[in-house]
Amino acid sequence: MGIDRENFTYRGRLMHLVHTRQLTRSLAEDMFDTADAARRLNTSRRGAEYLQDSLVGRLALLYFVQPSTRTFLSFRAAASLLGMSAAEVRRTEVSSEVKGESPLDSIRTFAMYHDLIVIRYPEAGFSEQCANFFVDHDLRRHIINGGSGKDDHPTQALLDLYTLHREFYSRGGIDGKRILVVGDLARGRAVRSLLHLLTNYSGVRIDLVAPPQFRLEDDIKVLGANAFDDMRESENIEDFLHEADAVYMTRVQSEYDGAAQTPTSVVESYGLTPARASKMKAESIIMHPLPRQNEIPDVLDRDPRSRYWDQVENGMWVRVALIAHMLSCEERIRSS
Ligand code: NCD
Repeated sequence: MGIDRENFTYRGRLMHLVHTRQLTRSLAEDMFDTADAARRLNTSRRGAEYLQDSLVGRLALLYFVQPSTRTFLSFRAAASLLGMSAAEVRRTEVSSEVKGESPLDSIRTFAMYHDLIVIRYPEAGFSEQCANFFVDHDLRRHIINGGSGKDDHPTQALLDLYTLHREFYSRGGIDGKRILVVGDLARGRAVRSLLHLLTNYSGVRIDLVAPPQFRLEDDIKVLGANAFDDMRESENIEDFLHEADAVYMTRVQSEYDGAAQTPTSVVESYGLTPARASKMKAESIIMHPLPRQNEIPDVLDRDPRSRYWDQVENGMWVRVALIAHMLSCEERIRSS
């Protein structure tokens, strides 16, 4: 039996993770169970050693040629929690690409030494190209998309969903919740990917708030219109704040602005000030993929509803679970 080219699965397991749409609800929830189990194991020395025995001697490469702090470090930490060693390539100007080597030749070289390659790349579609190349050449190594262009960021979506799952676990789950998404929805891949994953749940209601130039792209709107119970749009955050079960804030993706930087008044128009936060429900939560600019002031870090620093930690554990799934050691972790 070969690899399913549509979903990059092999015997029901993800061989590569390049698109958020590969993550079904059951697959994601299985990973949340693994993430919880790994977290529990890591609270004792014996447990931590057991966890590290999972993938001793296996190697990961982090090929990150677009800026990253959290995703990069969290993959590195996740690999080491499982006992893997992690190498990194972050600057093409010190790799053979300056000698004219094509990125695909570089990736093929990486595959000679590593079991898993995590890729963050400025152009959309590169991880998929690599995954197809691996399938064509029967290279039995794994690829994870660690963020590609404005398009997709599957592991960010997974950690956001894990955060929502943990939060709403004892409150009826994610089904039926109203989620407000705010900011640069045109260029923020984290939002696109999260909305994709939320289509796997029932009765979800989505509210979108973006400045006129940063409205969500039509492809995701069409997807959402078919999948969500309700989808409303406004330029005014105050229209929806009081009803939200979760408020997902995002920054202006200013790296795409070039010389014409977005004026600060745009961020002020939608930013979550303490006065605005006071209109939110007491049991609602505030999320953000980070890095933030001014759309959430530091003072809100002390608000008991803030979850963005938890998201960072959840990201590491859900990446542990993803790697464990792809490299076939999640049973060992869950049965411990
Ligand atoms: C996000 C990204 O890179 O898309 N950051 C992240 O991975 N935590 C969001 C962002 O950069 O705004």
